[in-house]
Amino acid sequence: CAGISHAYVIFGATGNLAVHKLLPALYQLHGMGHLADDVEILGCGRTPFTQDSWRAEVRQQLLKQGVVDDAVLESFIQRLDYLAGSLTEATFYQALGAWIQRDSECANNVIFYLSVSPDLYVTVTEGLATAQLLDEAQGFRRMVIEKPFGHDLESARTLQHSLSEHLKEEQIYRIDHYVGKEAVQNLLVLRFANLILEPLWNRYHIDHIQITHAETVGVDGRASYYDKSGGAVRDMIQSHLLQVMALLAMEPPVSLEAEALRNEKVKVLQSIRPVNLEQLATHAIRGQYAAGEVKGEAVPGYLQETGVAAGSHTESYAAMKLYIDNWRWKDVPFYLRTGKRLKERRSLVAVRFKQPPMQLFKGSGVYQPYPNWLLIGIQPEDAVRMEISAKVPGLEMHTRQIVMDASVSTPGERKAEAYEELLLDVIKGDRSLFLRYDEVKAAWTVVDPVMQRWADDEQLPLQYPAGGWGPKAAEKIFGDSDRAWRHTLSCNGGE
Ligand code: BG6
Repeated sequence: CAGISHAYVIFGATGNLAVHKLLPALYQLHGMGHLADDVEILGCGRTPFTQDSWRAEVRQQLLKQGVVDDAVLESFIQRLDYLAGSLTEATFYQALGAWIQRDSECANNVIFYLSVSPDLYVTVTEGLATAQLLDEAQGFRRMVIEKPFGHDLESARTLQHSLSEHLKEEQIYRIDHYVGKEAVQNLLVLRFANLILEPLWNRYHIDHIQITHAETVGVDGRASYYDKSGGAVRDMIQSHLLQVMALLAMEPPVSLEAEALRNEKVKVLQSIRPVNLEQLATHAIRGQYAAGEVKGEAVPGYLQETGVAAGSHTESYAAMKLYIDNWRWKDVPFYLRTGKRLKERRSLVAVRFKQPPMQLFKGSGVYQPYPNWLLIGIQPEDAVRMEISAKVPGLEMHTRQIVMDASVSTPGERKAEAYEELLLDVIKGDRSLFLRYDEVKAAWTVVDPVMQRWADDEQLPLQYPAGGWGPKAAEKIFGDSDRAWRHTLSCNGGE
């Protein structure tokens, strides 16, 4: 794709996402030779930067993030330009049109990246359409849209309706950066490039699956967005964790083509059984962090964070038990959980297998029947670990748990950042890692009833001290089974 001329137009270029993720990712793609020589990157925002002051700003930001001041940085900076203006004014789109037109090479292919508040998605799309900047007569016009795609099922429908008046589905790239993570993509490779898991990957051999995304950070300066439009379910489960679940549970696709892959994912999402609202307290649990200590540092509770509404009911922790009603997974619980201000920053998938049908080693003193576990670390380490039973050396027939452990990357190998992969895919026109509207809709269908029920609940979410593993009551999700959360990749973690 080093030959694809285009312009990358970033709306909201001075915001957090653009500065910390998008521009660094484009810098890396540039350094790796993935951008054609004439690619230009236009930042758009309200702050009145000039081309020079914007270049100086980006240079400074990249240096702060550890980029080396060398010829690569210098040549990247030369690609940058800036257009100041208000996204709600027609004059801005006229100026943008003129900017695109002045360069006939890139004029044909333009990627618009909406790194702005979701309330502006339709405004920007309409602005671009009115200025005829979405017309693909000369080349491609692609639109990248960040999550959240709507804030519930109804608003997602409305948004889709408005976008589809101006854009064809092939022009829309609904990004879910989690899917771009190396370890998440590795789920596909683990499952479909090996034969060893497939015969066991079903309700006959798997007891349950846990998907955990734990963070140590709090609302982290994003309180105004998170408190109003976020919450753990909207922010993480509806998008990222349901995507991981779909990749884990889907049938083998016929190819890695976008439609083939997304057809399989959407079938999983559409087969998720509605959450049991009659017994919500054991099927979906929400929490909110109270003051506590994270990594030795005292931190305020959620309700004390600047920007959070007094008495807010927004959950910073959520756990859900979901079932997929299909032939492969019927009655196998999938436990999804995520939380802020937890003990560690860690994401993992833990698959517990069923016990062998009969125990030969009973009565051997210290014997304890351990189930087999497959643990897949997503971050910080991308590791694959299998826990199995083996004999303890000695005269007795005692068993213990041992670990087969592999790190996916070897020292010295550079892991690509999720956004590098995804921004490159947009240039290539590969939509396989982007979400199709029916996936988004199916995911909202799963979480919407729970969110509505919580919205009607007058009680505050369960309080949990910052720095722990969330509310104690989250264990209730396992009922009276012998299951428990796996918090880490280490042996017996949580069990
Ligand atoms: C984002 C959420 O989509 O994902 C954040 O809005 C969350 O609240 C983040 O912190 C987690 O992703 P990562 O890649 O930082 O682990």
